[in-house]
Amino acid sequence: MRFDVVSIFPEYLAPLDLSLIGKARTEGLLELAVHDLRTYTQDRHRTVDDTPYGGGAGMVMKPEPWAQALGDIAEASPLAEGSKPTLIVPSPAGEVFNQKLAYELAEEDHLVFACGRYEGIDERVLEWAQDAYTVRPVSLGDYVLNGGEVAVLAMVEAIGRLVPGVVGNPESLIEESHSDGLLEYPVYTKPSSWRGREVPEVLLSGNHGKIAKFRKELQLRRTADRRPDLIDALDVAAFSKTDRNVLWELGYAVVDGKAVLRPES
Ligand code: ADE
Repeated sequence: MRFDVVSIFPEYLAPLDLSLIGKARTEGLLELAVHDLRTYTQDRHRTVDDTPYGGGAGMVMKPEPWAQALGDIAEASPLAEGSKPTLIVPSPAGEVFNQKLAYELAEEDHLVFACGRYEGIDERVLEWAQDAYTVRPVSLGDYVLNGGEVAVLAMVEAIGRLVPGVVGNPESLIEESHSDGLLEYPVYTKPSSWRGREVPEVLLSGNHGKIAKFRKELQLRRTADRRPDLIDALDVAAFSKTDRNVLWELGYAVVDGKAVLRPES
């Protein structure tokens, strides 16, 4: 998997040298290059922004440096003739990034990230880029950052760790939050008694069936409490009797394979 990131603050991406992603790069599992947009400018001041047509606050990123940068990167793409890299444009006006999208993007061989600053990039760049790229504006969430770099750090980490071999123990990918549409169960380590607080006894029992049931119940309780939107989205058709009973206790009935809040709850 190859990542290219274009930014006017290449130093912002330095954390991608560290930890699991940095190690995966050293081992050749991931290739990542950061490009300084200003090296693609032609003027003495290396200008990347200008005032917006139609007025309004702030500045807009000029199109030509972006075309130069993205043109060069597309040309050097390792993909075969005829297949396009995906261009991800972090923006609060994009589709929301989630684990499903992370899995989808982890299947790609070449992802390019265009970090906008100021009020954003001249919209014509996104239209023009469609000749060479599959263009996807993507938002980290419903809030506004100062630029795309922080969003790229999050997305590269979330996508990169799904590439086979990057995470040492692939089991941990199966059990984590969002992998089955639920939040992860709480975890504990030694000592079993700490400052008057005990680890739930069942976890010390060695009974794996009971432990799995207990953890699933906590996943459902935690999700219903913190993220009821995820309960609404669950496909519960294949849920066991035990899981349906937990949902019932939490105030949900199962109707046509969906969990719906019971009117009286
Ligand atoms: N740039 C500014 N805000 C953003 C957000 N919420 N997600 C992605 N990129 C952004």
